[in-house]
Amino acid sequence: MVTNDVATEIETDRDSSDVQPERGTDLDGPEPQDAADDVRFRLLMAGFPTGVTVISTLGRGQAPMGMTCSALCSVSLGPPTLLACLRAGSPTLAAIRRRRVFAVNLLHEAAQPVAELFGSGAPDRFDRVRWRIEPSWGVPVLFDDVHAVARCRVVDSKLVGDHRVVFGEVTHIRHYAEIRSPLMYGRRRYAGWPAG
Ligand SMILES: Cc1cc2nc3c(=O)[nH]c(=O)nc-3n(C[C@H](O)[C@H](O)[C@H](O)COP(=O)(O)O)c2cc1C
Repeated sequence: MVTNDVATEIETDRDSSDVQPERGTDLDGPEPQDAADDVRFRLLMAGFPTGVTVISTLGRGQAPMGMTCSALCSVSLGPPTLLACLRAGSPTLAAIRRRRVFAVNLLHEAAQPVAELFGSGAPDRFDRVRWRIEPSWGVPVLFDDVHAVARCRVVDSKLVGDHRVVFGEVTHIRHYAEIRSPLMYGRRRYAGWPAG
């Protein structure tokens, strides 16, 4: 039986898929002691270690813009597409939406200071790293601090809560320092991916 609460939930479901939710499964609601809040959600995701990237692009007057981002996910192989989740108020995000292209700089194990710098909000972040605009890419690349970089073309984006999910079709890929392991972040700590 559908209660009024459940009916309201169905109406306000923001899932844009064309599949109707099955009643009585996801709609029952959590037990109070299991309810998600900011603290418990952060703790949950801290237990899901990821690689660390700097997402970069060019802003007004060709100024380099970039931010640390660990919310990166492979979406599709054909065409090669990834997604990145960027805070809605980010100046880097605003520049990406204007420019329509961005680089995903996959940081290597020695680049923890760069991850911290590009996560700090420091206005002079590009003065403190080595970078260049790769010929024909049109985006800044942190060539000292990466093991690989992808250049992406924005194909879609969607605002979800306080972040925007940006879908990028990968147009170019380059590997830089293949001997270096990827930098990882989880449980509020950095670590290099174990060699071997
Ligand atoms: C390890 C790490 C991972 C982060 N991941 C993300 C992320 O996935 N999305 C996001 O919006 N901010 C993330 N941040 C925070 C941003 O890097 C930070 O807010 C930064 O100042 C944003 O740059 P902006 O000033 O250009 O917006 C992360 C920070 C760190 C240190």
